[in-house]
Amino acid sequence: MSMQDFSIQTKAKDQSYIAALPRVAIQAFCETADVSSAMQAASGDRRMDKTHLKVQMGGAAAAAESYRYSPTPNVIILESVNGRDEILGHLDTLAEVCDAGTKVVVIGHINDVVLYRELVRRGVSEYLIAPITTIEIVRALSELFAAPDAEPVGRTIAVVGTRGGVGASTVAHNIGYAIGRQLNIETVIADLDLPFGTGGLDFNQDPLQGIADAVFAPDRLDANLLDRLTSACGEHLNLLAAPATLDRLYDFAETSFDNVIELLQSSVPAIVLDVPHMWTGWTRRLMVGADQIVIVASPDLASLRNAKNMLDVFRQARQHDAKPLLVMNMVGVPKRPEIAVAEFGKTLDLAVSAVLNFDPALFGAASNNGQMIAEIQARSKPAETLLELARLVTGRSEARSQKKSLLAPLLLKFSKKKA
Ligand SMILES: Nc1ncnc2c1ncn2[C@@H]1O[C@H](COP(=O)(O)OP(=O)(O)OP(=O)(O)O)[C@@H](O)[C@H]1O
Ligand SMILES: [Mg+2]
Repeated sequence: MSMQDFSIQTKAKDQSYIAALPRVAIQAFCETADVSSAMQAASGDRRMDKTHLKVQMGGAAAAAESYRYSPTPNVIILESVNGRDEILGHLDTLAEVCDAGTKVVVIGHINDVVLYRELVRRGVSEYLIAPITTIEIVRALSELFAAPDAEPVGRTIAVVGTRGGVGASTVAHNIGYAIGRQLNIETVIADLDLPFGTGGLDFNQDPLQGIADAVFAPDRLDANLLDRLTSACGEHLNLLAAPATLDRLYDFAETSFDNVIELLQSSVPAIVLDVPHMWTGWTRRLMVGADQIVIVASPDLASLRNAKNMLDVFRQARQHDAKPLLVMNMVGVPKRPEIAVAEFGKTLDLAVSAVLNFDPALFGAASNNGQMIAEIQARSKPAETLLELARLVTGRSEARSQKKSLLAPLLLKFSKKKA
């Protein structure tokens, strides 16, 4: 291709191509009917199909109010008809309740260089000037995620057991449920136990396709196929189910899951990996590459030894990452001699993040009914523990007081054409 062709192509692309948005939550707080209706219309654009866009009136004041006690979405859009000082004041208030990773887009009514500069300094992702058309909104939102320097939206959480049958899948599914259905963060649970996985049973789904089609057809795999392979388990929660059939063998190369994970990370904010209890090239790679590892252990000697060995590998391979979270499960089986939880954590030199007691009635009912613990007993101790774990792995449990400066480190993407 000649240089000339190249420049024509990029130009055409710049002007017309708008990438579809990933599965993200967006909330707009408008002040004028015009912006509000352009925003409503944007939600009907095909590129916005996967997003959850909520539009309301009330501007910055409404925004600050609604996030005082609830987590912020992936993107907040604020319209303000005010002047520079009011806009900046509103942003500072919002920064106090804004979670890390939330992008903020401001739609203002004034063209003011000092304002632009201050917005950039505060980490605002984009400033748009009203009046604004629907397609301009779609383009601006798309660019937040499609820009080459944009961070991948998805965070992978690998859940693994120290032995077979310690409840790793149960914990993975319940954490996934809590992230998606209770924290309202779009989530995919990937059941990586292809021959025996219980994701389909636990969520009462009987999908014909699922993760097998994704890993066995790497050439055909793209965002559309992956979308068809995931089954919805209610709003914000999706399952990439295991076939759980034995008509083929499941021998995978170390990198077999790379494509699936990469695609998921480019389109879904939370990805829970239900990693089967085995030590192969691909399971180790998934765990070592995860944003967060959750180790589920039962209070016995074999689990302690295996946990220690796993932690040694992770400490070595993930020197600059957060430590794995340790979840003790099935604690307090009647008559069973157990290693005390405190002792277990001390031996591993790792704080125990959560303890789930042995509760065969509750957990048994959940697995027999194809339901999650929170669906059976939302106010039970284990349901609360699992929800807290969901907050921990998504970084949603930081104290509000720490939120103050969180707008600052956001990726800056300043609309140069307007500066
Ligand atoms: N805290 C608990 N109390 C009682 N039963 C539990 C508890 N946690 C899990 N179970 C039950 O233990 C069984 C095994 O759980 P699960 O399939 O999640 O384990 P796993 O570690 O993923 O096993 P595998 O190694 O086969 O993948 C399930 O029937 C589940 O309902
Ligand atoms: Mg399992």
